[in-house]
Amino acid sequence: MLRDKSSRIKGGLLLSQNTLHCPIFKFSNQQIIKPKPLLSSQSMDTVVSGIRSTGNLHLGNYFGAVKNFIRMQEINNCFFFIADYHSLTTHPDASLLKKNVRQVLAEYLACGLDPEKSTIYVQSDIPETAELYLLLNMHAYLGELERATTFKEKARKHPDNINAGLLTYPVLMAADILIHKASKVPVGKDQEQHLEMTRQFGNRFNRMYNVNFFPEPVAYNFGEQLVKIPGLDGTGKMGKSEGEGNAIFLADKQDILKKKIMRSVSDSGPTEANSAKPESIKNLFTLLSVVSKSETFNFFEEAYNNCSIRYGDLKKQLAEDMEIFVAPIRTKIEEIAADDQYLNKALEMGKEKAHTSSSKTVKEVRELMGIQYR
Ligand code: TRP
Repeated sequence: MLRDKSSRIKGGLLLSQNTLHCPIFKFSNQQIIKPKPLLSSQSMDTVVSGIRSTGNLHLGNYFGAVKNFIRMQEINNCFFFIADYHSLTTHPDASLLKKNVRQVLAEYLACGLDPEKSTIYVQSDIPETAELYLLLNMHAYLGELERATTFKEKARKHPDNINAGLLTYPVLMAADILIHKASKVPVGKDQEQHLEMTRQFGNRFNRMYNVNFFPEPVAYNFGEQLVKIPGLDGTGKMGKSEGEGNAIFLADKQDILKKKIMRSVSDSGPTEANSAKPESIKNLFTLLSVVSKSETFNFFEEAYNNCSIRYGDLKKQLAEDMEIFVAPIRTKIEEIAADDQYLNKALEMGKEKAHTSSSKTVKEVRELMGIQYR
């Protein structure tokens, strides 16, 4: 009987008799999650961020986003969710969805997102988000939705699938954020317009119903501390759309890592002492700077400056250090991805925690809008 008592929310505190068990984190079946003192969680800012449910995490995602999430969850009341509904606007492949969502979840958990510190859930597990989306749609105008850069771009790329979900993508994103009344949203540059629209929708709601209900969410990241991770093709940042060999995935096996790094773009080497580095070489040094020891970095820096550098050696070293960095994360990904029970439990726990705050918001929104007939 005791075997599977699931977590329960009481008065905002999570009490669990059988916490998430996973061989990697030291969750034990006996351990009781100590509720955080109410005061501290109440005084913490609320953070919401959506994670795309397509594709694997790469090194750029890790240093550009995930590492920050892990810091944020220590000092904020964080909600991180997998945006599966959003993926349906462009990738409606029913047969892949389950696998993708579980893989993305496993990867984030492996990196250190902690289901006890943060609320980690799947968007479609919270029907209140869909309800708020519907209600917000009543006050979202065609003109403003058509002007969104992302809409225009996607409509151009997929002219045969300009669906209403795509048009109202920013309304769904606003619902994701407003449902928890978040004040901070960690997003990249490409999402800032959506965040601006979220403020617009929230403020419009406040004005229409003459309330001060939704706070104004602002972009949240640790700014200058972010390292932009370049790709392996010699130009620009790491990304999956730039071709298979450009990105280093956290799930990549050692031989793949090595192959990608050995094939990365470099040149024939400096001919003049202390010359400026071309972009492709700067990129390799940036990668060294995040995974190698500083002595290693300095060694190659000096070799570059006195023109004795051999890029083959640098790449070999980078591949070794990359493996040291990636291996423990990869192992965790594999262990968690294979542990169905753990993943299911994480999903349930997130769903319950997210439901508490989302049902409260929707109830209040319905009241404010007059949807209350008995
Ligand atoms: N649109 C975001 C992206 O493409 C994902 C997302 C959906 C999101 N809902 C969100 C991000 C809410 C922050 C907050 O990356």
